[in-house]
Order: sequence, then structure tokens, then C-alpha cells
Amino acid sequence: MNSMLKNFFFIKLLRKSARILGYKIDFLPLTLIDTIESKIEYVTRLSRRAQNIPGAVVECGLGNGVSFAILAKDAYVASKDLYGFDSFEGFPEPVKEDDSHYEIKKGGWGNAEQKAVEQKVKDVVSAEYFEKHVKITPGFFSDTLPKTETGPISFLHLDGDLYQSYMDCYENLYEKVVPGGIILIDEYLNGTEYAKYPGGFKAAAVFFADKEVDICRDMKSGKYYIVKR
Ligand SMILES: C[S@@+](CC[C@H](N)C(=O)[O-])C[C@H]1O[C@@H](n2cnc3c(N)ncnc32)[C@H](O)[C@@H]1O
Repeated sequence: MNSMLKNFFFIKLLRKSARILGYKIDFLPLTLIDTIESKIEYVTRLSRRAQNIPGAVVECGLGNGVSFAILAKDAYVASKDLYGFDSFEGFPEPVKEDDSHYEIKKGGWGNAEQKAVEQKVKDVVSAEYFEKHVKITPGFFSDTLPKTETGPISFLHLDGDLYQSYMDCYENLYEKVVPGGIILIDEYLNGTEYAKYPGGFKAAAVFFADKEVDICRDMKSGKYYIVKR
């Protein structure tokens, strides 16, 4: 049995045992999101749904470049432009919407390095493609997104963890996503007080309140995404 399935059955067993003992732990998501294998699977599968739609592939929140390198493989095959954004100095100051059981601090994820992310991408694409089509912009989203001309976007991966980080992305990039394009929202999990980063859910609730969108759940990974109308 592979580790994705093992995770799934482990969480099911844990929930069942807790229920027998009189506890309710449904906040434990039935997802496989904790492994690199599962990330490769769902990021690839969802981004491929937008593979034949013209437009750039964009990720906000690069960290160590794991998901960005996954996206790079298919963007390369399709010769699409690939844009990545990260402060490379970690989180900005969290706001009250980010309050959670987990301690979130300014500078969290501050160890991520642009050079390491670039190398991960270079490992999976040609030098020519990298030179011509890949643009990684360091800085906070609030500064960099309004200044970067990405053109139309076919796939947008949002993984900035915090409320204002998500809002900055929605405010600057939502309009650029083409019909049929996909927005994968990393932090939307359950939207309850149990979520480690509740700001992602709250930002989506505020931003999409007056928009006609269906936020869909990918049943296999438990991740949430939008197909732009
Ligand atoms: C969870 S990590 C990304 C992980 C990566 N997508 C992956 O799956 O491998 C979140 C990243 O978002 C970045 N980040 C969060 N808010 C930001 C903001 N407002 N501006 C720029 N970068 C931000 C952090 O610096 C951090 O590197």
C-alpha cells in the first residue's frame, strides 16, 4: 500500500476510534496533503485541466519550490510562461483573521531561498526555456503583484498561508485568470477554527462574496479550487 493510501486509512481509523470513545475529530481532513507524493499528484492533475487553455502559470508563495517545480514540468511541455512570487523573507505581519491554535509569526518560512527555488526549476526544464519563460519575483505580494505584467493566467496556485497574502493575490490576479482557468487555493481547509491557517478561508469568503464562483473540493486531495467562469 502506498503512503497516500496509508494516510487515508490511518485518519479514518483515528476518527472511528475517537467516535467510539465519544470524541468527535472530524476536523482531521481525509486528505493526503502531507506527502510530497500527494502534492505531485494533485498539483499535476489540477494544473493539467488547464493545460490546453492559453495563459501563464503563476504561483504565489514558493517556499522551497516544491510545488513550483511540479508546475514547471508541465508549463515547460506546454511552453507557457511561468511566474513565481515570494518575499524570500517569510510572512508579512499576520492580521487578526490569521489567529489560530498555531503560532503564526512575521518572518515564518523565512528560510526559503530564491536560488534554491531556481535550481529546482532548472532541474526539470531546459536552460533556454528557463531563460525565456520563467520569472521569479522576490518581494511582498502587495509590492510585486501590481507591478508585474503576467498577461492572462490559465493556472494560479495560491499558497501564501495568510489572510492579507491571499487578498493581495485575489485583488491583483483574479481578473487576469481566463475563463476555464483554475485557481488552486492551498489554505481553504474546512474553514473552521481548527485550520492551521484560517486566513485563507476568510479571504476567499470576503473576496468572493459578491462574485459568481463555485469553490470546488477535489475529493482525492481534499484541496479546494475554482474554475473561472
Ligand atoms: C507554505 S510556503 C509555500 C510552499 C510551496 N508552495 C510548496 O508547496 O512547496 C508559503 C510561502 O509564502 C510566502 N509568503 C506568504 N505571504 C507572502 C506575501 N504577502 N508576500 C510574499 N510572499 C509571501 C512565504 O515567504 C512562504 O515562502
